[in-house]
Amino acid sequence: MTGRDRTEKTTATAPVAAAEAAAPPPEVLRERALAALLRARERTSLLTDCVDERELTAQHSPLMSPLVWDLAHIGNQEEQWLLRAVGGHDPIHPEIDPLYDAFEHPRAERPSLPLLPPAEARRYAAEVRGRALDVLERSAFRGTPLTDAGFAFGMIAQHEQQHDETMLITHQLRRGEAALTAPDPAPPPEGPELPGEVLVPAGEFTMGTSTEPWALDNERPAHRVSTGAYYLDTTPVTNGAYLRFLESGGYEDPRWWHPEGLLHLRRQQITAPLFWRREGGRWLRRRFGVTEEVPPNEPVLHVSWYEADAYARWAGRRLPTEREWEKAARHDPATGRSTRFPWGDAEPTAEHANLGQRHLRPAPAGSYPKGRSPLGVRQLIGDVWEWTSSGFDPYPGFAAFPYREYSEVFFGPEYKVLRGGSFAVDAVACRGTFRNWDYPVRRQIFSGFRTARDAAPGEGIA
Ligand SMILES: [Fe+2]
Repeated sequence: MTGRDRTEKTTATAPVAAAEAAAPPPEVLRERALAALLRARERTSLLTDCVDERELTAQHSPLMSPLVWDLAHIGNQEEQWLLRAVGGHDPIHPEIDPLYDAFEHPRAERPSLPLLPPAEARRYAAEVRGRALDVLERSAFRGTPLTDAGFAFGMIAQHEQQHDETMLITHQLRRGEAALTAPDPAPPPEGPELPGEVLVPAGEFTMGTSTEPWALDNERPAHRVSTGAYYLDTTPVTNGAYLRFLESGGYEDPRWWHPEGLLHLRRQQITAPLFWRREGGRWLRRRFGVTEEVPPNEPVLHVSWYEADAYARWAGRRLPTEREWEKAARHDPATGRSTRFPWGDAEPTAEHANLGQRHLRPAPAGSYPKGRSPLGVRQLIGDVWEWTSSGFDPYPGFAAFPYREYSEVFFGPEYKVLRGGSFAVDAVACRGTFRNWDYPVRRQIFSGFRTARDAAPGEGIA
């Protein structure tokens, strides 16, 4: 436990649901579920129709599944939860369940399995979807924890979108010509230069949720916590800022590195973010099959927790804790309420955040003024996943749902929590309470970060 953690208090017992937005009515949720399922399938098709059969069945990296595994796994999970568990249907192909069980077969093993070929995988996923939409139409959205507020439908839409993000990572890792294209984000709006950091006052706020209908088990329940006063970067750390760390010899200086990070750096001969290379005095990066100059004003991407942590130390700062991140993203000091997103409770639009693979890159730092928090923090949602200093722990009162393997088996300090979602995350799988976790060495994910520092004594005290 760090000194920082000791200053953060948790009050688990107070009833705190009133400090959050109320859940929408069932008819709104049914429409939201239908739209989310259709949107997810459209994206799955986009990601799998743009490459040929050979590419669908190939393993592009030992870290990833063949795309055709993700495709049938999406259908299989949907069958198990929406058709069998909610709809009471008999299994369509029970014999394939073990092939698509993520816990039974690690990713490196999956190419050697007798997987459904692409055409069959597509047919299977489409058949399941057709029946799932019938189940959705008939479901009363109440009666069991799985059907209450349409939870299972929201969970399956999130599951498909999370695999779409995984498939997008596979696209980033694959070699060869670009298979995907998307327009670039707009340049950030003109205006006075943003302050580098924002002061978040000391005090309590409501962390986690008890009212968000499709929140996953690890986001629950809402509980009161407090933080000291701290400063948080207004935007994620940019490539330009990260380059100053790199070019000042940051990767060679052991002072900045966690001992395990340093070991990993040397063993793997890491000298820059993943997909970067230096050529003729310029830094280039490979992004979805295109090589381009590293854009200085864009949030840095594809850095490990160790790289984020080292940069923060070099800058005389630190990574925010998970609760500091969530307080900046949800706490409205004017009302004392925790909102669903930094801008309030409304669903994200293209004006709020860079989500949903509309673009294949983060937007320049300072973008999305309409998505800012009441205190003026920008781009907390979308663009890049943000590493926090915290391990992945259950909240007080945690209950595993709908199965232990969803979150519980991952709890512990070996994973670090990431927050906020990236350009590759759909709105259905992104909110101020959403928690992602990964190993601190990981960097093929769409990960970046912002930094924090403690306020001076007496600053930020109400
Ligand atoms: Fe999965």
